[in-house]
Amino acid sequence: MEDRYFSTWSPDLRKNNLFFLNRPIYRMMGLSEDVRAVAWDLLSHESVTIISHIDADGITGEAILSQALSRAGIRTTSVFVRQLEPLTIRQVPKDETFKLFCDLGAGQQNLIAEAGFRNDEVGIIDHHISQPCDVDYLQVNCHPYGHVKLSAAGVAYLVAKEIDSGNTDLAPLAVIGNVGDMMAREDCGLTGIAREIAYEGSAHGSVEVRKYDLNCYGISTRPLHISLSYNDDPIIPGISNNARGALRFLQKLGIPLQDNLQRWRVWEEFSCEEQRIISSALAQQLLAHTCSITRLFCESYLFPAEKARTPLRNAQEYATLLNACGRWSRPKTGAQICRGDRGSAYREAEHMLTNHRTIIRELLQFILDTGVSELSHLQFLHVGNRYPDTIVGIGAGMALSKLNREKPILIMVEQPEDPSLTKVSLRANEQMLSRGIDLQEAATSASERFGGAGGGHRIAAGAFIPRESEHEFIQYVNELLAGQCTKEDAGHR
Ligand code: C5P
Repeated sequence: MEDRYFSTWSPDLRKNNLFFLNRPIYRMMGLSEDVRAVAWDLLSHESVTIISHIDADGITGEAILSQALSRAGIRTTSVFVRQLEPLTIRQVPKDETFKLFCDLGAGQQNLIAEAGFRNDEVGIIDHHISQPCDVDYLQVNCHPYGHVKLSAAGVAYLVAKEIDSGNTDLAPLAVIGNVGDMMAREDCGLTGIAREIAYEGSAHGSVEVRKYDLNCYGISTRPLHISLSYNDDPIIPGISNNARGALRFLQKLGIPLQDNLQRWRVWEEFSCEEQRIISSALAQQLLAHTCSITRLFCESYLFPAEKARTPLRNAQEYATLLNACGRWSRPKTGAQICRGDRGSAYREAEHMLTNHRTIIRELLQFILDTGVSELSHLQFLHVGNRYPDTIVGIGAGMALSKLNREKPILIMVEQPEDPSLTKVSLRANEQMLSRGIDLQEAATSASERFGGAGGGHRIAAGAFIPRESEHEFIQYVNELLAGQCTKEDAGHR
């Protein structure tokens, strides 16, 4: 594995007329060589269709690639899909354009091949586990090189920079993609290449990196007591899940919690000294209850050029805004925001975000009210056709901290477009990963066994399965998870 990715390669490949070099020479030598091979290949095409995922990582990845390619004089069109599967691959045009898959494709290469796409008309930029395939598609994927905390937007940024070193202004988008795909969650900050990109943005002036910030969602838009009460990482006794308790706690510190306009102040607006007082009081509260303070602080990523008190001010909230667009069928609205639209697209996105939050809250309540069924290594529920398949995983992830925190959660939902299929989402937490849980592996193996298709990451995975196999699928996933824990236990003996 490379310690340091960044190199001093010469940019502006097209100007140097190097793009016609035979790309297979550069294959599989290392991530940097793969980045270079894809960048060179892209520059040899007149027009490119980008096929990307509808989540924050896919939307930012598309925005990075389309801007980098347009700047290099290449025409681009974009198609967003919820997953690459037999129904959605039909949206990929059969035309003369080069097809560039982003944040998907690595795990669906056989599907791409079955759909008739040749290896000279396809490129893949991904961070998911790659599927063996007879067709040798051009691919840059950080996963096989051990860079598991880099998102597709991060890889897209490396390609954009290889196309032209001036593309560093796109670093904020890569940071949003990385944070949106939870790459900063486990370590309370980005690591490896993803962190280097954030610092590159900081050097460029478009990203502000705060090394010891409060590890709490909503630092730019939520009243502080509300942010703290929603936070469950870490759980702070008397404050988490208790907005009144959080407010009383802050009031005792004697710091004004409202501004001159009587608006609740958000974390970002407190002075350094006020933040220091609040942080140390929170640390004391944790210590008084013999809880660890290690997850109280995190490195956060802000965008100082964006308007104060908007979700565009920090990477986490920006990613939620994009997810709200993508998961509710408006990925192109999100993509316009990534290109700088702060007018009609932004207003539409704000509306999507309000709607997204309302439905997620409702879904979370539905999960908690309905309750889950528990097996030895898994908790699960079926939400019927009440919610779209694009958001159930988000609700399940949020519910996990309020349910049994020892077992992964599996949530199922009907597929309105194809009633013979069920969509499954799986979510775990960091503690489960340290016990050997790998949801990607479980989702892939179990869906294959029942003729479905799945993938994802160790902490979050999904699958489509035949509806009639729901029961057996759940039992088999439980068995697989049990096996993963046993293997890990044996390894530690
Ligand atoms: O849809 P959901 O949010 O549950 O997806 C979680 C992860 O699983 C994502 O990374 C998604 O790309 C992946 N996934 C997949 N194949 C599916 C469904 C989801 O690879 N059929």
